[in-house]
Amino acid sequence: MIKSKPRRLHPLAIRIMHWINAVAMIVMIMSGWGIYDDYVIIHGLHFSSSLRLGSWAAPSLLWHFAGMWLLACNGLAYLVYGLVTGRLRERMLPIQGRALVQTVRETLHFKIQHDDLTVYNAVQKLLYIVVILAGISQVVTGLLIWKPIQFSSALALLGGFQAVRIEHFIGMCVIVGFLIVHVALSLLVPQTLWAMLSGGPRLQPRGGSP
Ligand code: HEM
Repeated sequence: MIKSKPRRLHPLAIRIMHWINAVAMIVMIMSGWGIYDDYVIIHGLHFSSSLRLGSWAAPSLLWHFAGMWLLACNGLAYLVYGLVTGRLRERMLPIQGRALVQTVRETLHFKIQHDDLTVYNAVQKLLYIVVILAGISQVVTGLLIWKPIQFSSALALLGGFQAVRIEHFIGMCVIVGFLIVHVALSLLVPQTLWAMLSGGPRLQPRGGSP
């Protein structure tokens, strides 16, 4: 683990990667809806043209391919940074069952406490881990349906082309669901939004006294 000088809650690298990820994810979602609309999975479910990036499937695909490199490279950089510095483990683990139930209960009673910005609550930790896993799954399933010949064995393992297409669609639903809750919460607790823009409070150096 790398020992570091006093640091911000969200170091500059994390802020840059977070906002690049937000842009890339939105490009991926809106262009994905453009591609989907050409060959729907749920009959009767269409996305309005104002929600689609690209006027029809071909330009939407070009947007999707452009966004995919940004998403995959930026996501990889975020994971490597988080693992090498120990930040991912420090911020997202451990998740205790009792704390999870308690936070869900409080949230259902609209008691959203976020006095200490430096600690993610159990629900936040779980949501962040789920969305990181969903992001990885989107890159993998996207690769499989993009190159079905090269990855035919992996495709078969996951149930075939159409099954993987549905898995890719479900991953999108998870990410969109996360995004709705995530953006709503960051607007309800705007100091978290400001911290993700400015860096937030200074933390003790890793390995220093708490
Ligand atoms: C587009 C609008 C978005 C806004 C306004 C937003 C806002 C924020 C804010 C305010 C935080 C800090 C939360 C806190 O300190 O309590 C945060 C963290 C985070 N956001 Fe977002 N976000 C957006 C998009 C996304 C997207 C698209 C994803 C992934 C699909 C995402 C994933 C995350 C993750 C994983 C963290 C934790 C980062 C870390 O500490 O390493 N966000 N976001």
